[in-house]
Amino acid sequence: MRDAFAREPRWDPRAFPPADRAPRAAQTVRMLLDPQGYALGLRRRLGPVFSARVYPYRAALVCAADATTNRAVLTDHRRFVGGEATALLAPALGAGSLICTPPPHHLPHRRLLLPPFAGARMAGWEGRVRELVRAALPDLPTGRAVPVRPWAQRLTLEVVLRVIFGLRDPARIAVFRRTLTAFLGAGNVATLFLPGPLRRDVGRLSPGGRFARLRAGVRELVRDEIAARRLAPDRDDRDDVLSLLLAAQEAGPGDARLLDELTGLVLAGHETTATTIAWTLHLLAHHPAERDDLVADLDAGSDRVLRAVVRESGRLHPAVYNAMRTAAHDTELGGHPVPGHAFVAALFPVTHLDPELWPRPHAFRPQRHLNRDRDRDRDPEPYALTPFGGGLRRCIGVPLAELEIATALREILAVAVPEPAGPPERARLVAVTLVPGRGGRVTLRRRSRARSSP
Ligand code: HEM
Repeated sequence: MRDAFAREPRWDPRAFPPADRAPRAAQTVRMLLDPQGYALGLRRRLGPVFSARVYPYRAALVCAADATTNRAVLTDHRRFVGGEATALLAPALGAGSLICTPPPHHLPHRRLLLPPFAGARMAGWEGRVRELVRAALPDLPTGRAVPVRPWAQRLTLEVVLRVIFGLRDPARIAVFRRTLTAFLGAGNVATLFLPGPLRRDVGRLSPGGRFARLRAGVRELVRDEIAARRLAPDRDDRDDVLSLLLAAQEAGPGDARLLDELTGLVLAGHETTATTIAWTLHLLAHHPAERDDLVADLDAGSDRVLRAVVRESGRLHPAVYNAMRTAAHDTELGGHPVPGHAFVAALFPVTHLDPELWPRPHAFRPQRHLNRDRDRDRDPEPYALTPFGGGLRRCIGVPLAELEIATALREILAVAVPEPAGPPERARLVAVTLVPGRGGRVTLRRRSRARSSP
């Protein structure tokens, strides 16, 4: 993979969209302290296309923050190229994973990965995902404050182990759980955003050394699993992602790429889905009228309000902060110059709060997604709401993510309702995920009469 950072152009205010005058270090700190608020402030002052002069970009990150420019960045693949900017995350995701693959290899690669994630196939997992949620519910206590995100992270990891890896043996599941939890845990992947010298592996205790050791553990385990499953007699009867990819092997990736692919899927799918579950419950706790509407609709056997609630949660708090591209050549965005090889981001949490698209943008109003006439989603404009991205690189995990989120909410709200456990939380940026600052705390109150469900 070409090093996107080596080709980044130097900062020149005349060659980039408008920027804040503050030094790069000050802008970086402000962005880290309040990623959503700081970017919204820049958009208000500088317009929908601006340059954020933040680390680790040597020049700037060009940000697109309205529906028109969001669409351009996500869909104009000739001008805005995907797969190169994610090089920073390649040591974690795997350089051969779909997310890190630039054109022309991206599309054929994506075609291989789409069938295992098709909606109909994922629907077949519904019963098993429900069982996993039910098994996890006793770890979500009622009657006292609890941060939902760590619980949801454990749940989504369990789903990954079954749906992606197809693990069945409890001992093997335990080893995977331990190894992946350590790798995904406290700030490990965020090591990749540290300045160069701190990223280096200079011994077991250095952040870089710790990252390398944990990563080696994951890769060894996954490599062994691929080898074992190649020999497994029941391989063709399985419907997990690994088995399906192995079955497509003749035309598909070699084992080295499969290894990258699986690591990439764990990282892309686990944290994002857990974060969305946590934000949604947190928002419901702080909006009792909307929460009660949802509970009543679910009790009546409908998913209509649930879908609107999840869309509204993804609008206010998209789990993924931005989609990254690099400019293929000197170009323009929203009437501003963008130099070739500059980093360009579709900034979802700002586009989603555009008052011209979304009246009272900061209010949690699931009803804005309910079409009065038909049971269909309604957006004010295409590309006004893109928590899963768009275009040729739109998230392929949507059917799995939606299944997990809907099942978790349905099962939790059948037995308990969330209430506030403190003030509404501000978003914090962990690598590229926008997480609730204190884990999405709620107090779950047990319902006097639980809803009976299948
Ligand atoms: C709520 C949960 C999720 C959110 C918010 C989310 C968000 C996103 C976004 C915004 C992108 C586009 C990035 C871009 O354009 O550069 C993306 C891509 C991707 N996502 Fe997800 N995702 C979620 C869950 C999942 C799951 C469960 C999986 C699979 C296990 C997954 C796998 C992927 C992959 C492989 C890509 C790369 C697609 C490509 O480059 O063609 N995601 N996701």
